[in-house]
Amino acid sequence: MRKFRPIALALALFGAALLVPTAATTASAATTTYQAENAARTQGVVESNHAGFTGTGFVNYDNVAGSSVTFTVNVGTAGNAALVFRFANGTTINRPMTIAVDGTTIATPQFASTSVWTSWNTTTVNTTLPTGSHTIKTTATTANGGPNLDSLAVTDAGGGGGGAPTAAELLAKVTSCSQISNGTYKTDSELGRTIPVCGKNGAVFWKADMDVDCDGLRTSQCNENTDPWYQPDTAFHTSTDQPLNAATLPYVVVPSPSSTWDYRNFQIAGGGVVAVIYNNQVSYTVVGDTGPVDIIGEASYAAASQLGINPNPENGGTDSGVTYIVFKNSTINPIENHNLAVTRGQELARTFINNN
Ligand code: GCU
Ligand code: CA
Ligand code: CA
Repeated sequence: MRKFRPIALALALFGAALLVPTAATTASAATTTYQAENAARTQGVVESNHAGFTGTGFVNYDNVAGSSVTFTVNVGTAGNAALVFRFANGTTINRPMTIAVDGTTIATPQFASTSVWTSWNTTTVNTTLPTGSHTIKTTATTANGGPNLDSLAVTDAGGGGGGAPTAAELLAKVTSCSQISNGTYKTDSELGRTIPVCGKNGAVFWKADMDVDCDGLRTSQCNENTDPWYQPDTAFHTSTDQPLNAATLPYVVVPSPSSTWDYRNFQIAGGGVVAVIYNNQVSYTVVGDTGPVDIIGEASYAAASQLGINPNPENGGTDSGVTYIVFKNSTINPIENHNLAVTRGQELARTFINNN
């Protein structure tokens, strides 16, 4: 269920909302994030025992020279490209790796200490890449092996045409609202009703805040102690009939059906794919829970975390700048397969861009 901000915090945020205009996100480069745990590897294992990773885990390279992870990436627009590696190194010693593009080494960054295995940092290698598919191989050069590697984000030279849809491409399609809700929603319990649900070809959208939902499976991140509003269940369940895990599964909360709006009448159901856009990033999530009938703008701990929003269920979230695009007839199964949500979401988003 939906969280209600304490009144003092709500008032503080309301004040801030009056002073700070909504951030414009107009960069045109396309960024696609590839999870290390889905990449090819030699001499390494996928693990998830150190918190702070994205996706479903990270690769722990065997502590030998030559252990490697190879990503296959897709470049939509040829030109300058940034390769951003996210890693942790809980030792005090650098863990250098060669970075080879299509077999040619272009750099050997150091992957320096992050002090502990639960602190993650990024190192960026700038290069140029032609359009199309490329391998990016990361190979440990010392007997300590590589760091723990979470992901590789590739930003290419442009937006549009190919590869994963960009935030800017999607936002360009949701600049005007043709309202489909009978009324509007509040973003927080103490604020007025200002947010309509808008219709598009193949989708609905709203622009709101993000409150952090920590309901469902009890974890170290989400429980009665971390979340004053914690409830041990979500409206929709996993394929084994368990509550969703808000700490690891990016999902969105939709308002419970009411005379204002009933998502079920718009070919939307639990497990439907949702693109969430914030700060020039796109995160693909699913409809995972329902909230109050009069409030909109909420997503899981993992969804916030993926977008760089403070995921703390008590005082995290953000009070504006979040766009939610819910694709119709898009239910994935199983609902808890986040990689499926991403793959399907990228396809749906490309179709949405073409059809609107
Ligand atoms: C520890 C840590 C691993 C890490 C390893 C290493 O065992 O738990 O995640 O990969 O150290 O030194 O490489
Ligand atoms: Ca290791
Ligand atoms: Ca990862």
